[in-house]
Amino acid sequence: MSRRIIPLADVSALPDISGVAASPSGLLTDTLARPLRDLRISVTDRCNFRCVYCMPREVFDKDYQFLPHAALLSFEEIERLARVFVAHGVEKIRLTGGEPLLRKNIEFLIERLALLRTPEGRPLDLTLTTNGSLLARKARSLKDAGLSRVTVSLDALDDALFRRMNDADFAVADVLDGIETAQAAGLDPIKVNMVVKRGTNDQEIVPMARHFKGSGAVLRFIEYMDVGASNGWNMSEVLPSAQVIERIGAHFPLEPLEAHTAAETAQRWAYRDGGGEIGVISSVTRAFCDSCTRARLSTEGKLYLCLFAVAGHDLRGLIRSGASDEDVATAIARIWEARGDRYSQLRGSASAPSREDARRVEMSYIGG
Ligand code: GTP
Ligand code: 5AD
Ligand code: SF4
Ligand code: SF4
Repeated sequence: MSRRIIPLADVSALPDISGVAASPSGLLTDTLARPLRDLRISVTDRCNFRCVYCMPREVFDKDYQFLPHAALLSFEEIERLARVFVAHGVEKIRLTGGEPLLRKNIEFLIERLALLRTPEGRPLDLTLTTNGSLLARKARSLKDAGLSRVTVSLDALDDALFRRMNDADFAVADVLDGIETAQAAGLDPIKVNMVVKRGTNDQEIVPMARHFKGSGAVLRFIEYMDVGASNGWNMSEVLPSAQVIERIGAHFPLEPLEAHTAAETAQRWAYRDGGGEIGVISSVTRAFCDSCTRARLSTEGKLYLCLFAVAGHDLRGLIRSGASDEDVATAIARIWEARGDRYSQLRGSASAPSREDARRVEMSYIGG
């Protein structure tokens, strides 16, 4: 393989990878022996919601500079990069945003990605995270394009609270309609992600559980995280997952389930009466960095190795400079092999990156 110099963005903030040997396409592992299995691709940094914990309106206002069109990776560029990642062992691709359904003709990209096969010849687990506002309109075309399933973010059933939390006056009924349409289109198993903020929407935990119990959708409760630099995160607003399980268990008895895979973000629980399962994602109280196999590709083509990273590796610059697929594969291998990120495990410890670090990327840019 060729050994050209790889142009990297924000080089000062990135690890020195010059001495790291590149491996051929195949199974890659990082410095903590974690393989590269999941790729999350942000297809737009825009969103039609202004969730208070993600894109607070004071920051993401009419003067906020979203990326210009030319900065976005094109569908061809995304497909090309995805192909190389798949050769390196990626088996699951999640499209994120911002709101991915706002990207024009997203179905065209899905059609291309659905054709990719792992080195063993298996199709990918191809999914997407959406706020659900456009899902009723799009579910059928997403399924027809080859999407495997969807995950819908939903933080409350109470309409007034939901409108306050999305801060864009979207009605909860539209999202529920989107979930049902997606189920009818066969985009299952549908997952519903609820970010729990103590004092804001924790009273919705039991109503949400009651609503989705027996529906076939898997409801997951996410601990509110200190991601990004603009949401003013505070530990007092985190409700530990153990309390979520306790509160639901008091109404509907639960029992723990085995994980599907070691890299799963959620701990699974089943309703004892056969009403399906729920999950809790405890990245604050029980970090899962040890098994983190996720890489994130930002809207403008920077590769981030952790949700909490402050800098990304510029793959767009590399491909637009005329690099061959082999060069790209080598670059990705060197970057992954140098990876040592485990922010959630270090959170609060002396070696953790500072919370004051205002350069930390926003979740709407890098994707959840
Ligand atoms: P499934 O394959 O459907 O289980 O997806 P997933 O749980 O891997 O992804 P999803 O986007 O549904 O993750 C749900 C939430 O978990 C995200 O919105 C984040 O809040 C959190 N999360 C996902 N991946 C990571 C990660 O790598 N690190 C941390 N700290 N949190 C994550
Ligand atoms: N903590 C936890 N999850 C978050 N998300 C966005 N911001 C946060 C945060 N601070 C999740 C949302 C959505 C996905 C895009 O990211 O729930 O499911
Ligand atoms: Fe948009 Fe999702 Fe962020 Fe809410 S959490 S502002 S829906 S990207
Ligand atoms: Fe992975 Fe970083 Fe999340 Fe840990 S904090 S699970 S390393 S993305």
